[in-house]
Order: sequence, then structure tokens, then C-alpha cells
Amino acid sequence: MSKPHTIAIPKGRLLDSVVKYFTARGMDIRFGSRKLSAVDSTGRLEIYKVKNHDLPAYVHHGIAGLGIVGDDTVTESGHSFTRILTLPFGGTRLCVAAPKGSLTPGQLGGTVTVATSYVRMTRDWFHRRGIPVKIIRLGGSVELAPVLGLAPYIVDLVETGSTLAANGLEVVADLGDIKVRLIANPAYFKLHYREIAELADIMMRES
Ligand code: PRP
Repeated sequence: MSKPHTIAIPKGRLLDSVVKYFTARGMDIRFGSRKLSAVDSTGRLEIYKVKNHDLPAYVHHGIAGLGIVGDDTVTESGHSFTRILTLPFGGTRLCVAAPKGSLTPGQLGGTVTVATSYVRMTRDWFHRRGIPVKIIRLGGSVELAPVLGLAPYIVDLVETGSTLAANGLEVVADLGDIKVRLIANPAYFKLHYREIAELADIMMRES
């Protein structure tokens, strides 16, 4: 059997779905207690469990040939990867949100202050629309920013909308869908094209 694919998967909210997805396709993954790497039951994958934010660096530097990650994390990293597959779980939307009843950013007619972890996508979206923007970078829990008066607007991922609602916020503009993808380091993809195509076939199977 050929060497296993090295693949980075994120530790955060996607981890359980990723592990279940592989398990349902015969690739059982078990991490020992506190262990951050594992080989699946078929020996096809050598898996590294990394922080979501760090995942692009592992794939970009070729430490992991493959990765499973959201579009948001890829775009914010600034790196380019080969996109192999879109996975059927973990999809979200990136939205501008503000306290209920707020104007949309376009209606404001001045510089809009936005708190976000998604600086690159936020800057691009506002620039494309010619709306001046001041961005305050936060690591998470950005819904607190309008509540505490740090910034009247946020850009964040919205899945069920319950975090916004619980903090008295609502969506005022949509930046787009965020999908979860299987990506590859472009050089790794060229070298292992056939084996990656085989893996992609297995991954696309109905469970
Ligand atoms: C994400 C996102 C929102 C929340 C949206 O946060 O940043 O806060 O999920 O989900 P919902 O629409 O279903 O409520 P996450 O839990 O990943 O933590 P974070 O605040 O540290 O980003």
C-alpha cells in the first residue's frame, strides 16, 4: 500500500463532523487521549488535528498535503490551494450584523466601524462597494462588540442565527456563503494526483 496522505483537520467546531464523515466511509479515526495525530483504520490517512487558524500554514508549507477547512480560513490566510471537493457539512454565511433596527452600512453615508475576525474579507467587501470602513480585529465573541459599544457593526459567521438573536443583533447584509472544502497543497496535488482522486471518490460516496 502507498504511503498515507497527510491531512490536517481543524480542532474546532468542524472536528466531530469531519471524524464522523470519514468513519461513515470506512475510515475510522481515533485520537488517543490528548494526542494530536492519528492514522485511520485503513492506513490511508495520517491525520493532524490543528487549530483552525493554523491549518493553512500546515498545508501551505507541505507538512500536510491535504486539509479540510472553511473558505473563510483559506481566504484570510492569503495562501492559494488546489480545491478538491466541497463537503456537505459545516456550511455557514458571512454577514454584517448590527443591533436590531440599524441602517445598512450603505445607508450610513460615512465611515463604518466594524469589529471582526475576518479582516481581509471585510475590507474587500466594503472596498468593492466604495464604503469607507474602519476595522477592529478581534479573535472571537465579536457579538459583544456592539453590545459593549466597541463597534456598531460586526462581520461574523452566522449558522443558526441564535448567537446574533441572543445578543439583540440581526443580519443587515450578506457577504456570501462559506463552504467547507478538501484542499491540497498544489505541489502535493501534482505529485499525488491519482491517489488523491481515489480518496476523493471514496469521500464522495454516500455513507
Ligand atoms: C461562531 C461564529 C458565531 C457563531 C454563529 O462562533 O463566530 O459567533 O458561531 O453560530 P450561530 O449562528 O449558530 O449562533 P464560534 O462558536 O465558532 O466561536 P467564536 O465566537 O470564538 O468565533
